[in-house]
This record gives sequence, C-alpha cells and structure tokens, in this order.
Amino acid sequence: MKVDLLQMVEYGGCSAKISPKLLEEILKYLPLPKDPNILVDIDTHDDAGVYRVNDQLALVLTTDFFPPVCSDPYEFGQIAAANSISDVYAMGGDPVLALNIMMFPTAKLPMEAYTEILKGGYDKATEAGVRIIGGHTIDDNPPKYGLAVVGYIHPEKIITNAGARAGDHLILTKAIGTGIIMAGQRLKIADEADIDEAKRLMKLLNKTGAEVMKKYNIKGATDVTGFGLAGHALKMAMASEVTIRIDMKKVPLIGNVYKLIDEGCIPGASFRNLDFVEEHLQTASDLDYNLKMIAFDAQTSGGLLMSVPDHIFHEVVSDLQSVGLTSSTEIGIVTEKSDRFLLLGN
Ligand code: CO
Ligand code: CO
Ligand code: CO
Repeated sequence: MKVDLLQMVEYGGCSAKISPKLLEEILKYLPLPKDPNILVDIDTHDDAGVYRVNDQLALVLTTDFFPPVCSDPYEFGQIAAANSISDVYAMGGDPVLALNIMMFPTAKLPMEAYTEILKGGYDKATEAGVRIIGGHTIDDNPPKYGLAVVGYIHPEKIITNAGARAGDHLILTKAIGTGIIMAGQRLKIADEADIDEAKRLMKLLNKTGAEVMKKYNIKGATDVTGFGLAGHALKMAMASEVTIRIDMKKVPLIGNVYKLIDEGCIPGASFRNLDFVEEHLQTASDLDYNLKMIAFDAQTSGGLLMSVPDHIFHEVVSDLQSVGLTSSTEIGIVTEKSDRFLLLGN
C-alpha cells in the first residue's frame, strides 16, 4: 500500500498552528517564570527560549510538531526535523540534542510509515549534528511529528527578534509560498516542479544561513514559519520597537505561486495571519492583492529573515549566495518606529 499522508489532513505543516491572535489571548493568562538566568522568554515572541547555565554557556530550547506537509513519510520526517531545529539556528545557537514527538494512528497506517517518518527525522537531525536521544509517541490521528531541541549558545551572542535597528536591511534566505503550493497540490493544480522545489526548500537546514549570521555578528533575526512573512516581520518590529517596510515585489517566490492565488489557492491560515497583523499594518494603496496574500502565507520550514546593518549588507548577501542560498536578497528595510509597525508595498 502506497501511503499518501497529505490526504489525511486539512492543514499540514505550520499551517496547522493555531491563530496567532488566539495564541496571544491564551498566553496572556500564563504567568512567566522569573529567573535572572532566563535570557529570552516568550515576551519577545522569539523562536526559542534561552537559559544561562554559566558565563560561557546558555541553552536554547524549542519544540515544533505538525501534521503532514507532503505525501511521503520519509520526506515528512525530514521536513519536520529541519523545521524544529530551525528555531535554534534562528537564535544563533548550535543544535545539539533532540527528542522525538510523535502522534501516529496505528489502526490507519502501516507501521512502515511510522518507521519512515522517524528515519527521515533521524537523517535530517544527523545532518545538523543533532543526536536524538529519546522521544514519546501517542496513538492519534492524523499523524503529527516534530522534535524538542536543545542547542548551545554563548550568552552574549544571542540573535533575537529584538535586534533589528533603524537603517538595517532585511534579508530573506528562502523563497516563499509553501502553504500556497501545498493547497495547490491538494487541488491537483500545482506543478510537479514547484512541489519539488517547495519540498527541497522545506528540507533545507537553516544551518548555512545561520553560520553567515554568526560570522557577521548579526543581532536581529527570526525564521519565517506559520505566521507568514508578515506575521514574523511584525513580531520582529514589535520586539525591536521599529517599523519594518517590506517591498513585496522583491520577495522571492517559489515557481508559479503568484498564479496559484489567481486560481483560488489561499489557505485558511493566511486569513488568520492577516487578522493578527491587520491592526499594525499599513499597505500601499496600489499593493497587488496576490502579493499581499503571499505575505500572509504560512511557511513550513521557511528561511531566515535577518536584519542586517548597512555597512555589511552587501557582503552578507554575497556570502549567503555563495553557500547555496541563491535566492537570498533584500526584501525591505528597517526604519524608526512610525505609526504602524509594518508597511507592505509593491
Ligand atoms: Co521560529
Ligand atoms: Co517554532
Ligand atoms: Co514518555
């Protein structure tokens, strides 16, 4: 029996995240632990928490898991692991250890699918230098998979959402549109080549991009995942108390993503993301509708969004391209805080 995981879910990958607005509502009631060794907590909506062990070492902790984002179990495992580990890279950390988190419907799928998902996760973790040393499985439908990851970082070298400064250039390291392509795949109108490119990008570790960030001592970054380019840019603008302007025509897109929107491929998660961002957003009056909706497309295992000071900006872009992140480009700028946190233009 050929397993097709994508047919088991309505929302796969990071599109399955609950709405950022609802999440904010819920987290309001959760007290934050107070401890001087907590260097980064959810206050700044960062990718991971950071805890100081001593003056040389802090731990980066993060977890992510989600339902299938592609048909093949092995590829799903790879993508889920790359996505989970990405939050450590986005903070400038070195991922070291992980635990598997797995939900699997034993009555609905053959056990080979279970093994294949874990094998995909193991291989991707190994590529990242991460040892998976345990995990936990629940019998549940549809399947969900991800990792809880621990990384090391120097307490003074943490890259956060709060590190963007007026005058910086915004660089994105992967083309976007994975949510739209997945929707197109389900409707059977996405090109095979675009599906392959989306899967290649989702499997691609943010490791090389993170190495470039560390080389240039970049202070502000995040990875673009479930809240979309606009949602993650907003979180960065708020944490840094700046305004971010994104020029949507400069944003690299996967294949025929623009055309798929004309054909109705706007996943529900895009509207949830738009709803979250709207009150802090100003759009240019002539902003193209498709480009606007692409800004809200939930990405799975998306690229790094970096805020790069002007004097190193050209070197950073050329380094990113030379390590294989060929679509890395400037997509916007950071300015002093004006009346909205986020501006979307053409
Ligand atoms: Co993240
Ligand atoms: Co995450
Ligand atoms: Co257990």
